[in-house]
Amino acid sequence: MLDLISLVSFSVLGVIGWITYKMLVWPFYISPLRKIPGPPCENLFTGNLRTLMTEEPGFDEPQHRWVKKYGNIVKYHGLFNEPTLYVADSKIIQEITLSKTYDFVKPYNPSALAIAGVGLVFSEGENHKRQRKMMNPAFTYNNIKEMVPTFIRVTTTLKGLIEKEVNLGKSNINLTPYLSKTTLDVIGLVGFNYEFNSLTSSNELATAYDSLFNQPATKLRIAMSLLSRYVPLIRQIPIDINKKFRDSYDEELKYQIMTFLIAGHETTNVTTCWALYLLAQHPHEQDLLREELVKAFPDKSNFNPTYDEINSLEHLNCNTEMFIGISALHKSTEIWGPTADKYNPKRWLDPSLIKNVTNLNYLPFFNGARGCIGNKVALAEMKIILGMLIRNFVFQPIEGFHIRKKVFPVPKPDPYLGLIVSIVES
Ligand code: HEM
Repeated sequence: MLDLISLVSFSVLGVIGWITYKMLVWPFYISPLRKIPGPPCENLFTGNLRTLMTEEPGFDEPQHRWVKKYGNIVKYHGLFNEPTLYVADSKIIQEITLSKTYDFVKPYNPSALAIAGVGLVFSEGENHKRQRKMMNPAFTYNNIKEMVPTFIRVTTTLKGLIEKEVNLGKSNINLTPYLSKTTLDVIGLVGFNYEFNSLTSSNELATAYDSLFNQPATKLRIAMSLLSRYVPLIRQIPIDINKKFRDSYDEELKYQIMTFLIAGHETTNVTTCWALYLLAQHPHEQDLLREELVKAFPDKSNFNPTYDEINSLEHLNCNTEMFIGISALHKSTEIWGPTADKYNPKRWLDPSLIKNVTNLNYLPFFNGARGCIGNKVALAEMKIILGMLIRNFVFQPIEGFHIRKKVFPVPKPDPYLGLIVSIVES
């Protein structure tokens, strides 16, 4: 009996000792990062995560404020007060992305691995090189050119659905599900020749996929995802949230498919959402873009651009590219000038600014061997969606409806992208 009590006491003491070491001793006295400047820890359990998870849309994000205050290399505190580096220095980023790509292994993330497996995003070293070589031919100019009619077809369905709502007298429209379904339908078709048809019907696979990404980010979901990095077994606890998590990938959605679905769907969806949000906030920019589109496509019922035509539109290019990589580097006044923190798509037309921009300091799609394989697909797809929507509709903010930025699991508009939509008459 005494032995059992001693064993339990030692175990409890061991756990307390480990927690004290992890949360107090390591971060403040031993970690090699301890002397790097950064925001003070706000909570021993959640570090600075709470601040990071309550961002407002726009340009004044915590990381940006930290870089302004502490410099291009900042230490903040993660879960259990773990010191974490935030790097916004273009030379170091160059080393990570170009010269030492495979030395920087991606963090172990059991939740993400369980969904996407060791596909292109999570494979490392030789395995990654082999997979990348295999996938590259699918992303040539000729192949992407051939995807454009699919982008147009799916966006035409989207346009029809929004038109229907407006014609029924509805003007405040929740665009989040529409855009999410549009990009899901597109990636299904161009990636696997699979018709999700999620815009127009309900589909088992689309529902399974939706349960992974579009459920509310409850505290339990966030906690399970963060904790599973430290205690992977947590995913085995037989509770509803874990059951849903397992059911959604078990049989139907295999790893490589999931990799492309996730990498190719949410990214494009979220970027298009924020581009529309910003255009609604800046009506003058929206009008300029529409003028360009009206000139290029005088008959709005015949919006049928080729890949080269859609890429030749100057204002559409300024839009689509800026609001992607939300990192401090993209808001550096040294690169982007004194108005770095303002939404100003026209900066892309200013040669004196653009001469400072290189693929070392502008990285919406990352760079080097691990850069986004689908960047040209994403840009063409988003230009078609934005182009057709702005050519056909006017978007305005809804007075009193406040949109925040959700941080987990993807930075979507929260609660949703609600805008006033009206039809462009001709
Ligand atoms: C706005 C849209 C998109 C953005 C902002 C974006 C951004 C990125 C970034 C930053 C990475 C590097 C991530 C990392 O290494 O951890 C990446 C990788 C990747 N992206 Fe994208 N992406 C977009 C759209 C797409 C699309 C449409 C596809 C597929 C058709 C795609 C497929 C991939 C894949 C497979 C990888 C892993 C590449 C590798 O490690 O070799 N992405 N993307």
